[in-house]
Amino acid sequence: MFPTSTFSSLHTTNVTPTPSLSSLSTSSLSSSSSSSPSSSLSLLQSSCIPRRHLRSFCAFRDTQLRIDPKSKGLKVTCSVGSEPLKVMISGAPASGKGTQCELIVQKFGLVHISTGDLLRAEVSSGTEIGNKAKEFMNAGRLVPDEIVTAMVMTRLSRQDAKEKGWLLDGYPRSFSQAQSLEELKIRPDVYIVLDVPDEILINRCIGRRLDPVTGKIYHLKNFPPETEEIKSRLVIRRDDTEEKVKSRLEIYKKNAEAISSTYLNIVNKINGNRPKEEIFKEIESLLLQVQKDRVEMTNPGNIIPEIKNLKNQDYWRGIPTKLNNIPHSREIRKYFYTDVLEATQRAINDGRTRLKVEINIPELNPEMDVYRIGTLMELVRVLALSFADDGKHVKVCVQGSMGEGALVGMPLQLAGTRQILEFMDWGDYGAMGNFIKIGSVGSKEVDEQDDIFVIVAPQNAVGNCIIDDLKAMTDAAGNRPVILVNPRLKDLPGSSGIMQTMGRDKRLEYAASFENCYFFRLLYYAGTQYPIMGALRMSFPYRYELYKRVDEPSGKEKYVILSTFPERPDTDEVNDAFLGKPRNKTKEASGIWGFLSGIF
Ligand code: AP5
Repeated sequence: MFPTSTFSSLHTTNVTPTPSLSSLSTSSLSSSSSSSPSSSLSLLQSSCIPRRHLRSFCAFRDTQLRIDPKSKGLKVTCSVGSEPLKVMISGAPASGKGTQCELIVQKFGLVHISTGDLLRAEVSSGTEIGNKAKEFMNAGRLVPDEIVTAMVMTRLSRQDAKEKGWLLDGYPRSFSQAQSLEELKIRPDVYIVLDVPDEILINRCIGRRLDPVTGKIYHLKNFPPETEEIKSRLVIRRDDTEEKVKSRLEIYKKNAEAISSTYLNIVNKINGNRPKEEIFKEIESLLLQVQKDRVEMTNPGNIIPEIKNLKNQDYWRGIPTKLNNIPHSREIRKYFYTDVLEATQRAINDGRTRLKVEINIPELNPEMDVYRIGTLMELVRVLALSFADDGKHVKVCVQGSMGEGALVGMPLQLAGTRQILEFMDWGDYGAMGNFIKIGSVGSKEVDEQDDIFVIVAPQNAVGNCIIDDLKAMTDAAGNRPVILVNPRLKDLPGSSGIMQTMGRDKRLEYAASFENCYFFRLLYYAGTQYPIMGALRMSFPYRYELYKRVDEPSGKEKYVILSTFPERPDTDEVNDAFLGKPRNKTKEASGIWGFLSGIF
């Protein structure tokens, strides 16, 4: 960051004034990875390409990845080695973009391209561009698109940005700037938006100071300079007055939504009103995850095992539509079975042993009239057969009737389940009885040869608590995986009268010891089941993804991603994301947007 026109010779390796406007040409730009060496990988036509990978397909469709539908097998061409990261960071003035960029560059070595810095360097060098930009900047207004866009394109086309990857800060700042990038097929892997409340932003700008020697950003209160010597040379940016900050903020808000709409599938809103180290930690883990996905994508050895496990499926196509058409089509059911299977396999391969699948599509949501036990059974069969195919001994367990005397019984949802399981078609290969056995819940069900336990919808019933039996069973299972499919382990205080070995706290703690490897839930207005407003999905090891359902003019519908979360978001966080509000703001769930209250 550099002060406007205060210094005449400030340059860093990333900030070089552009010679003249006339020398800028976007046609000279080449696709950033066009020169990368490539290798081919043939995949079976019916193979299922994991969702994460597909996202990368979209992001890099023009550069390193080609699918040739004419070839007999799907031919995927991808670059050898890992492509450098491409990151965009956005946020209101003083949301901390520059501060986070310093940390990102230190850790990931990306080329930092800040339009603010580039423009300030032009201004201080007195170039043609600088002279044009100066009046706009000093007034807190946006510099005309053609100036900024040409400057950014030139910088992006330089070799270092192609080789090391880039971190674009402060561009695009308008819909037309975003469109310029789209036209040139320049897309980031991830679009980070820092969320900070307005009043904090103004205070940050007023207290901001810059070190003209190192370019480091300070704040009189938040990050004071380390020494008196540094303090004495600090300068104030010309556009950091309260009045100009307010105008910049206004302009930012006007444009933000239109820009975000260009990057809906890769946007990640991050709460920027926290200590900078904490913010960076979240950004760091996000970027590491993106890098990891890309390595998987470009390393055939990593793709094949997953594909092997996902037999006879089409590749991921986003959240399926028409989920309110009931009963669900076979295709939709298959989609979800595969989605759950993928996530569960990844979690088990990762060494996780206490897992939970929570899938609440209408046919699997006991609160809905359309609940179908057959769908739950099919899901369990897909899971069990897949593990059995890998040579594992799977025990599929359904809790038996519980209680005594007048309290004897079992949850309605599970009545008859065991018989259905026994009569189901388990294939002609003799899996049932050899690799798959059916049992109940309790320590006695655990045999030495069992490798994995799948427990069907374990639940507390009024008067009876399943947790004690479940705990005894998991104790006996030791470190063998136990997967709960749609458990309902909420404590029922009314279940007194029956001796329970554990107290309430312990029971809750035990229930919480199972981690989600898969979560899917449709979102509705409170108290309704129509229309579907969106969906929340998590597939191990990835983040919770919040989608909004959008009706298209053609009459079709689609799901667009609004935000992602490291943990399951609460109702307020979901509401805020729908409203485009900063995450940390406390708000009451009210009005029509109170629709998500009580869903979790
Ligand atoms: P630019 O320099 O990009 O300004 P900006 O977007 O308004 O952002 P800032 O640099 O003010 O803030 P920042 O988010 O980087 O925050 P920082 O880390 O410094 O652009 C300037 C001008 O150039 C524009 O107004 C426009 O005229 C022109 N321009 C630029 N790009 C353009 C484009 N694409 N099109 C047209 N015109 C364009 O932090 C702020 C303060 O907060 C610091 O003091 C810092 O120490 C402190 N702080 C940071 N993080 C924290 C934290 N977590 N907690 C407490 N304090 C913190």
